[in-house]
Amino acid sequence: MTSGSARSFDRQWAELAQIGRHAQTGGYRRYALTREDHELREWFAGEASSRGLDLTLDRMGNQWAWWGDPDSTPGVVAGSHLDSVPDGGAYDGPLGVVSAFAALDRLRNSGFRPQRPLGIVNFADEEGARFGVACAGSRVITGALAPERALGLRDGDGVSMADALRSAGREPELIGPDPEALRRVGAFVELHVEQGRGLIDLDQPVALGTDIWPHGRWRLTFPGEANHAGTTRLDDRRDAMIGLASTILAARSAATTQGCVATIGKTVITPGGVNAIPSAATGWLDARGADEASLRRTVDEVTAAAADWGATVTEESWTATTRFDLDLLARLRRVLPAAPLLGTGAGHDAGILAGTGIPTGMIFVRNPTGISHSPAEHAERVDCLAGVDALTAALTELVGPETAGERP
Ligand code: GLV
Ligand code: MN
Ligand code: MN
Repeated sequence: MTSGSARSFDRQWAELAQIGRHAQTGGYRRYALTREDHELREWFAGEASSRGLDLTLDRMGNQWAWWGDPDSTPGVVAGSHLDSVPDGGAYDGPLGVVSAFAALDRLRNSGFRPQRPLGIVNFADEEGARFGVACAGSRVITGALAPERALGLRDGDGVSMADALRSAGREPELIGPDPEALRRVGAFVELHVEQGRGLIDLDQPVALGTDIWPHGRWRLTFPGEANHAGTTRLDDRRDAMIGLASTILAARSAATTQGCVATIGKTVITPGGVNAIPSAATGWLDARGADEASLRRTVDEVTAAAADWGATVTEESWTATTRFDLDLLARLRRVLPAAPLLGTGAGHDAGILAGTGIPTGMIFVRNPTGISHSPAEHAERVDCLAGVDALTAALTELVGPETAGERP
């Protein structure tokens, strides 16, 4: 790591640190198409402009900063996302974007002349924290999420994505698949903080990604009847919450039996009064597993448990198993021979791009506690800088050919 790219990393990190940080929790609330999102996008545009990179937007508003012309030859892209889950950590997403700019700085400062264009991307709405569908930015441009469906998604206040786009000064009519933007991407490498404990045990600062577990989100809505909490006999109640509570326990038990993970981390209870019996209860199931058959069995068991309470179950998103490109992985292993191989249960835009056939890989940076999607998420600076080193080596390999004296 040269001091120049370490300085670039530190400056970017300090600039991003305050955007969307909640004063009480210390976590980040960076949701799609909000003021914070706008600020983050302006920051990205500023980083591109200060380096003389060409900033382009695709049909979903994902930002691409290009060094070189990707319409002449498809480029190699690094980057990640800048949005967050509710009270998320600082690293999930931004580490990939900041490291990409720092790696590009390092290549440029060393006089490296890439043989292919080099791009840095900021994918929009990766977490789906506001509108419910994760990786909405990459799903729409790849055709995995239909524009009509995306535009109709609503946030917790009932605001549709179409209206949110209009409020942000964008034209909802323009969103849709963007094969032209994807044609520019010859390969994609997403650097990301590890969201587990693998690298602690392996005693290494970075790993190479091999695969992403299949995963999905399901909305479970339970019917009930509002009534008085003090005067309605237990036998006379239709309490929507009981069905949801029972199904949450069923999800835990199904996941245990099938060797998967299942989480209901978001609920909406109607009418939401302490002294009113719930007339409706909605919970969102996030389920993931090492293999699709076990995962499907888990979800079938949860669906059956929910059906016993008259619930409706709607699949909101599904991502099949991702296996990262083996040729690309072999090239990354050549330049990062000490990096162990790791699979992950976390979803990423890299998985969506890989699903379209774009050669895609991931670099994970050690997380000393394994905690993520929490204000406590952390990575040591020395490991982040090792991540920049690794990404620089990866990009050097991919945009080569190698020239003596130009390797980091
Ligand atoms: C994204 O971080 C996910 O795995 O949900
Ligand atoms: Mn995340
Ligand atoms: Mn992420």
